[in-house]
Formats: sequence, C-alpha cells, structure tokens
Amino acid sequence: MSNYTENIKNKAKVAKQYEESNNLSQRISLHEKYSTNPYGLSNWLFDQYSFSDGDNILELGCGTGGQWKGRIPENAKLVLTDFSEGMIKEVKGKYKEHSNIIARKADIQNISFEDSHFDIAIANFMLYHVPDLERALAEVVRVLKPGGKFYTATCGNNHLIEVNRWFNEYNPEYDIFNSSKLSFTLQNGVEQLKRYFTDVQMKEYADALEINDVDDLVNYILTFNDMVNIGKNELSDIREHLITKQNKDGIIHLSKQIGIFIAKKTSIEICKNW
Ligand SMILES: C[S@@+](CC[C@H](N)C(=O)[O-])C[C@H]1O[C@@H](n2cnc3c(N)ncnc32)[C@H](O)[C@@H]1O
Repeated sequence: MSNYTENIKNKAKVAKQYEESNNLSQRISLHEKYSTNPYGLSNWLFDQYSFSDGDNILELGCGTGGQWKGRIPENAKLVLTDFSEGMIKEVKGKYKEHSNIIARKADIQNISFEDSHFDIAIANFMLYHVPDLERALAEVVRVLKPGGKFYTATCGNNHLIEVNRWFNEYNPEYDIFNSSKLSFTLQNGVEQLKRYFTDVQMKEYADALEINDVDDLVNYILTFNDMVNIGKNELSDIREHLITKQNKDGIIHLSKQIGIFIAKKTSIEICKNW
C-alpha cells in the first residue's frame, strides 16, 4: 500500500511526476472544465498580486507557467523556475517572444541567485512537495529584498475531501488524497510562514468541481498514480464506486479548498529597531 503522505514530498517521486508537463496539464484541464466559479483561479491570483514597474519577480515551481498567459507585466523582469527540466523546456517555448522572461531550472531549497535580488517571489501549489520546507522558506527570504513580498497558493484540509473519503470506503487502507496530511496547507501555513515573514495574510478562493464524466475523474486520479499506486485490476472497481457518487443529474460534486498566503520580508529599518 502506498504512503501518499510521504510520497507527495519524496524527491524522486515528485521528479518523476513532473518530469514532463502532461500530468499537470491534464489536472489543470479538469479544473478548467468543471470548476463552478466562473471567475477563474489565475484571474483571482492576479487580483492578489501587487506588482510595481521595474519589479524583479521570481516564480518557484512554475510548472507550465500558465498563469502568466495574457497577463505578463510588461515593465517587470520575470524569472520562472522549476526543478523539472521538462517544465522549463515548455516554459521557454511558450514565452520565447518575451525578452523580459527568463526560464531556468532551480530547486527552491537551493536558489542560485544572490541575496536580496527579488521584489516578489511566488510559489504556488508546490511547497507541500518540498522535502525540506524550512530550508526552502529560508532561501525565499534570502533572495527577497527587505520589504519584498512572497505569494504562495496552496490547498486546505477540505480540498477534494470526498475523494479521500470514497477511497477509504472502497478500501480502508487507502489514505490517499488526504489534503489535511500535506506539510503546507491553508490551516498550517500561517504558523510556518510567521517564522520567516511578517504580515502574513491568508485569502481563500471559493470554488468546487461538478464533474459529469466519471472517466475524467478516473483519469485525473491516475495522473497521481506514481504516488498512489492504484493496481490496474482495481481500477474498474474504483470507477464503479465513483459512479455510485453521481447525483440524479449524473454529477459528481467535489469540494475545493484553495487560497493564497501573502507574506512580507521584514524591512531593514524594522530590523535596526530591534
Ligand atoms: C502542482 S505543480 C504546480 C505548478 C504551478 N505552480 C501551478 O500552480 O500550476 C508543482 C510544481 O512544483 C515543481 N517542484 C516540486 N518540487 C520542487 C522543488 N523542490 N523546487 C522547485 N520546483 C519544484 C514541480 O516540478 C511542479 O512543476
């Protein structure tokens, strides 16, 4: 039986999961197709970001870099990083026309930039994959300028909670998709960020999934199979179990709980007063 909680931050498994962009792209597509909030997560995230002209912006664990599409701040310099070579290749291709964007391979636990270089750092839906979270947060603080902002979106304990419950009904030994066991969540994030940042705020984005094709959900679950290890023989039984969760209109409802933390690196002036 797989240990989801450990696998989700196991370096080799995470690297395999994100070797190429296909798993992530498939998951993003499911959210785009079935999310009930029409506003859109990327639009909402950009409402939270506050950029100024000339900002140096660093994104860590950028994945496919999709959030910037159609929203590139023209008067800023953007460094998009990810520890996956496959993701960086895709991002380079996507933004090759933009001279203010650099895509570079980097592990958040060891960021190859000098101290106090960036005005803004962003790390969305990735801190729970990092084996040494303390080291990652210390690195983010190091590369931010005093007063610089850190934005980090993540999931809450109730994110896709039904999937965890249904797997558990199917087989009590399955404790997968248990967001409450992630190392960085909307519930445990404030405490961890406060060790490194000041003015930590959290904002939630209201959303849910209403899925009308069970196979889309099965395929979504399978994108995590490096981490959850569902046996091939079990798949059709799991599919049958998920069908029993459809409502009279054939819809499977899943809760989402996502949000963002906005945190600030202490400014030098404040440090001097200590
Ligand atoms: C769930 S995806 C999120 C991608 C993107 N931030 C988004 O919101 O769509 C997690 C990303 O973090 C990257 N990642 C995981 N661990 C990392 C690490 N230690 N350093 C840098 N990137 C990492 C993965 O390669 C993957 O692209």
